[in-house]
Amino acid sequence: MQPDSSSFYEEAKKSILYVTNRPEPVMERGEGMYLWDTDGKRYLDYIGGWAVTNLGHSPEVIAQALEKQARRLVNASPGFYNDQMLKFARLLTDISCFDKVFFVNSGSEANEGAIKLARKYGSKFKSGANEVITTIGSFHGRTLAMMAATGKPAWQTLFPPRVEGFVHVPYNDVEGVRAAMGPQTCAVMLEPIQGEGGVNVADAEYISGLRKLCDDNQILLIFDEVQTGIGRTGTMFAYEQYGVEPDIMTLAKGIGGGVPLSAVLAKARLDIFDAGDQGGTYSGQPLMAAVGQAVVREIIDGGWCENARQQGEYIVQRLEEIKERFGLQRIRGRGLLLGFDLPREMGQEVVAAAREEGLLLNSPQPATIRLMPPLIVAREQVDEMIEILVKVLSRLV
Ligand SMILES: Cc1ncc(COP(=O)(O)O)c(C=O)c1O
Repeated sequence: MQPDSSSFYEEAKKSILYVTNRPEPVMERGEGMYLWDTDGKRYLDYIGGWAVTNLGHSPEVIAQALEKQARRLVNASPGFYNDQMLKFARLLTDISCFDKVFFVNSGSEANEGAIKLARKYGSKFKSGANEVITTIGSFHGRTLAMMAATGKPAWQTLFPPRVEGFVHVPYNDVEGVRAAMGPQTCAVMLEPIQGEGGVNVADAEYISGLRKLCDDNQILLIFDEVQTGIGRTGTMFAYEQYGVEPDIMTLAKGIGGGVPLSAVLAKARLDIFDAGDQGGTYSGQPLMAAVGQAVVREIIDGGWCENARQQGEYIVQRLEEIKERFGLQRIRGRGLLLGFDLPREMGQEVVAAAREEGLLLNSPQPATIRLMPPLIVAREQVDEMIEILVKVLSRLV
């Protein structure tokens, strides 16, 4: 007989290094909008692998791309170009405002690459300027440099010595950036919507103001679209909604639909690395590049950006209907990166109660719930989510 979830959980705690508190269900299987644990319990997934499984769980396109490419070529070595990396780079440059692509494996690594590129730019064209301005409340990853870049005060003293060269300013505040800029500044980096910071959306004037400020001072504008990119906000990239082009953009999460894959995209004039400055064993590895192409093509062909926009609007409409009844505030976000505030700091209680009822939610801040379901979510699954949410809030609020 198969052991139940709680004994899997105890076993996992014995052998997996502790890094965070994980709840008891041990996940085993996924299909579309649903996950199943080792007890066979089904969960409607509004976490989506942390804004990752844009085509849902275990989609056929990924299975097919993996199988086909695994039989052709898994790894050619980073010392060679391969056909899949080339095709995928062409696809990304065709659908974006960028000309050059560097592939890696995770969001943190892509952001590290973007910062290296910005520092290279500073060393070549701005008398060695190497400081990057980032925002309070931002999240850029967990490598040592990205922890320093991230705008969480508590992280600035963790794992000393801190990587230098990052200055934090308030989000949605052009004047804050202007005041922090100096001859040492080479770039400004931000998320068009702060995800982990609680779904904080950048104003249009903020983004256009930053673009102008950067242009006037020959400073690079970097968008971390690790969470907002690949359809999440209702367009392929969030920058499109601002009518502004960044100089560098990073992508991860949704780009692989669940496999480890990320990318740095840059304008042609930033093709400035010298040999050996940047690289990585798995950079442009054909297996992942084949999956990335299949995922991005399906997002385009399936019209999933538009579905994200429409279902996002429908979620907001349904939340507005129950807003007063439960004291919900600040329903916000774009597409399928949405958040709302609870009447008190009860995010984890709501998450736990919803999980009991078979709904997976996320609470990035104590009083905030974030919704980031796969882009394939259907209207019935929005209704199903709202029904469970109402049940949970009726009990807790
Ligand atoms: C905006 C943003 N940047 C970077 C990262 C880090 O990505 P990864 O965990 O793949 O390193 C995340 C992860 O949540 C993110 O949301």
